[in-house]
Amino acid sequence: MGTSFILAPSLLSADFSRLAEELTFIEANGGEWVHLDVMDGAFVPNLTFGAPVVRCLRNKSTLPFDVHLMVERPQDFVKTFAEAGADYFTFHIEASVHAHRLISEIRAAGMKPGVSIVPSTPVHILDEVLPLVDLVLVMTVNPGFGGQTMISGCLEKVRELRKRRTEKQYTYLISVDGGINAATITNAADAGADVIVSGSSFFSGDIKK
Ligand code: DX5
Ligand code: ZN
Repeated sequence: MGTSFILAPSLLSADFSRLAEELTFIEANGGEWVHLDVMDGAFVPNLTFGAPVVRCLRNKSTLPFDVHLMVERPQDFVKTFAEAGADYFTFHIEASVHAHRLISEIRAAGMKPGVSIVPSTPVHILDEVLPLVDLVLVMTVNPGFGGQTMISGCLEKVRELRKRRTEKQYTYLISVDGGINAATITNAADAGADVIVSGSSFFSGDIKK
């Protein structure tokens, strides 16, 4: 169980002055998806970039763009990220009252809907949306910054999501995000993650081990 996974390096730890080269670095070092962390300074206490940057990067790589929106009002950004070329549009359940509608809008815009939970949110909050999404992103740090230490208890949620998927024959991929390094990656894979996001450890070369 959990021996193969998709590696999704996060551009959050890249050099923002040379993002196109960093995409090449990702491809050359085993990255299979590109994870793009969009932060609005409101949902999380940090700011990164938005759809214009994603649009500029789109023709610099053929890898799927896995956009993780750590923003309030994610419904306001569906159209712009679809036009920018996002493949996955992952929003936080904590930021969405009408998640059912939002998921339909993401799909209608031609993207794959993903939903994420922060460490303090339990899996059962997702009960009604699990049959509808293509990706569930389990945060294993409190979102906002790269380079934090994994809260390893969150990996229990990955096991729970695996179990639920099997029982109900759901089809979502399970992604783990936060504090993945050479020491923790095996635990994430063993818990059953299909996708593993790595920012600081990937760009420092640690994850290659
Ligand atoms: C954190 C972001 C992560 C971040 C992970 O809020 O969602 O994607 O880039 O960085 P590391 O791998 O350094 O914990
Ligand atoms: Zn992320």
